[in-house]
Amino acid sequence: MSAGVCAEMGQMMKRRLLIFGCSGHGKVIWDLARKMKRYEEICFLDDNPQGRGVMGAPLIGGREFADFKAADELIVAIGNCGIRGKVQKYFADKGMKIATLVHPNSTIGAHVTLGRGTVVMAGAVINSETQIGEGCIINTASSVDHDCVLGTFCHVAVGAHVAGGVHVGDFTWIGAGAVVSNHISICADSLIGAGAVVVRDIEKPGTYMGVPARSKAPESRRKTGGKVSVG
Ligand SMILES: CC(C)(COP(=O)(O)OP(=O)(O)OC[C@H]1O[C@@H](n2cnc3c(N)ncnc32)[C@H](O)[C@@H]1OP(=O)(O)O)[C@@H](O)C(=O)NCCC(=O)NCCS
Repeated sequence: MSAGVCAEMGQMMKRRLLIFGCSGHGKVIWDLARKMKRYEEICFLDDNPQGRGVMGAPLIGGREFADFKAADELIVAIGNCGIRGKVQKYFADKGMKIATLVHPNSTIGAHVTLGRGTVVMAGAVINSETQIGEGCIINTASSVDHDCVLGTFCHVAVGAHVAGGVHVGDFTWIGAGAVVSNHISICADSLIGAGAVVVRDIEKPGTYMGVPARSKAPESRRKTGGKVSVG
């Protein structure tokens, strides 16, 4: 094989990560991807393709971007769980390889499974036999203990802690610094406020906050000091 053909093939196989979303979260994912030392090139895509790149990495297109190479991988950097799910499905349906990113300074226990599109940030700990679904964010310095099952497109925000044997439904967001007690079940589409402590199962989708976590009451009931239902 000629040197020219070899160089061309090397170029074609260059591993490139495309990060969809020029947000602050995208910035942290860029940093994580660099630390993994897996990609020769990192570029951004965004719904606003006229915007700017992030941290010196170029913005090369939007959702309609079609110039994919065989060795490209894509990760969706959108904090909103529902939107992240839709965008990941859009690119997966186009045949894009969806990346799974794990920071070298995180700790992953034995028999842990991570779905495609999941990111595990610096300082996060996931303990033995936990299953994390597709498109989840296990954010900086958070932990998910042993034997948990997280559905798809969940977000365990910075510094949140999920104790052992917890089940979390799809699209659930556990806010910064929140704690979920052991063997709790949280249904899909729940939002746990920052700093909340969940000590009872959550069976209805909605927003829960405080210690212990309670359903966020509608405006009228809060203003009259009405009783709120416990999740
Ligand atoms: C719970 C949360 C979703 C509520 O947001 P919201 O619906 O916009 O609520 P508001 O900001 O209008 O606040 C409504 C009331 O709840 C209180 N409140 C808001 N968040 C709260 C929380 N986490 N814990 C306790 N009380 C909270 C507010 O003080 C306010 O009380 P008031 O009516 O007596 O003044 C939001 O505050 C939150 O915690 N989001 C998570 C953010 C996060 O973790 N980000 C992580 C990024 S990695």
